[in-house]
Amino acid sequence: MLPPKLFSHDSEKLLETLSDLLCNKTIPKDYMSDQGLREAYRSYYHEQSFHKALSLFEEMCLFPSVINFLKKQDSIHIADLATGTGGFAQGILHGLASESFSSISLTLQDRSQSALAVAELEIKNLYPIPHLMTSTYNGILPDSFPPLSGLQILSWGNMLNEWDLTAGSTKKLLGYIDRALGKGGILLIAEPADRISSRKLHQFSNDLLDTLPGFEILAPCPNNRRGKCPALFDESDWCHEDRPHRFSQELLHAAKRLGHIKDSLKMSYLICQKKDFPESGLPEKKITKSDEAWKMISDMIHERGLSKSTFCNGNEWMTYRLLKRYKFSGNDSFFRLKKGQTVQIKLSGKPEKKGDAFNIPEGTAVLPFSPS
Ligand SMILES: C[S@@+](CC[C@H](N)C(=O)[O-])C[C@H]1O[C@@H](n2cnc3c(N)ncnc32)[C@H](O)[C@@H]1O
Repeated sequence: MLPPKLFSHDSEKLLETLSDLLCNKTIPKDYMSDQGLREAYRSYYHEQSFHKALSLFEEMCLFPSVINFLKKQDSIHIADLATGTGGFAQGILHGLASESFSSISLTLQDRSQSALAVAELEIKNLYPIPHLMTSTYNGILPDSFPPLSGLQILSWGNMLNEWDLTAGSTKKLLGYIDRALGKGGILLIAEPADRISSRKLHQFSNDLLDTLPGFEILAPCPNNRRGKCPALFDESDWCHEDRPHRFSQELLHAAKRLGHIKDSLKMSYLICQKKDFPESGLPEKKITKSDEAWKMISDMIHERGLSKSTFCNGNEWMTYRLLKRYKFSGNDSFFRLKKGQTVQIKLSGKPEKKGDAFNIPEGTAVLPFSPS
């Protein structure tokens, strides 16, 4: 419980306080029930969560298995856990609103009853989608989940970063995901981009693959990663997105006051699908070296005579360098790649080791990758 009148009701001060508490991971558990902090959250973080969810929704629709699944549905049932003021749920709804479903049911869940009231109102006001039904579930996870099954989409934004994840709580959450999602259903998660939160999500993805063999990772990991996340191999590593984005002027002003740089959607994320696999789990996918996809996970560094960046194939990280003198029409896209893009690197020979990096051999093609 928050002590009453702990925070001044000056909105800028409140936002500073909230930002410090969230960044330092010292947030009181029921902060969303404090009107001032909730309004501060609504004024600054809500817009960010909305765009993160919309961006992930658009990414998931690039996967044929997702689009085919959604096309087969007449009605859609979504549950958004730890919904707060509902920004993440709104982003998903915004994506779905252009599709023609006969009905959309949305269940919002949070430990804070007052946050749920705000979220439900926001969504009803903003989305007069015909046939949209909303309901709320007030409970504390992972002990009290909304009793749902057959969901098409289960989502959350910025939830695990507020938890002390233990083996027990992970098991309960994974059990719920499996019970709540129907076959073909999609799990959509965004967490903050900092090292601690991202690594928590990477560990959660390892646990998910170990526990729920029928689930497939669609993104961000290339080649439908089945093994351990390589970002966890070294204590100091993590993997996160920086998707260029233009926020509202209001948000940019607030970010400036707080000293935040808001030129992109910064997040770690996970998109999984519950596939219709046999009990024995996912069939082994044969990926030949030349078919494998590489996701660029750091910025491109341009040096004299070469450009280099680090890539992940879902198994390992590799820093590849391409010498400018090897440039030809089949690989010049390499020099323009941006963090987060996925490519196929069709090696023409064995890359030569140079310090911690590898030189891409002459004649290697670098091609855009699209999910199949
Ligand atoms: C950072 S906010 C995220 C809100 C929204 N999902 C978003 O991305 O904007 C985290 C939310 O999780 C809720 N929450 C945290 N731990 C929870 C738990 N154990 N059970 C239920 N809700 C929880 C908080 O009340 C808060 O509303």
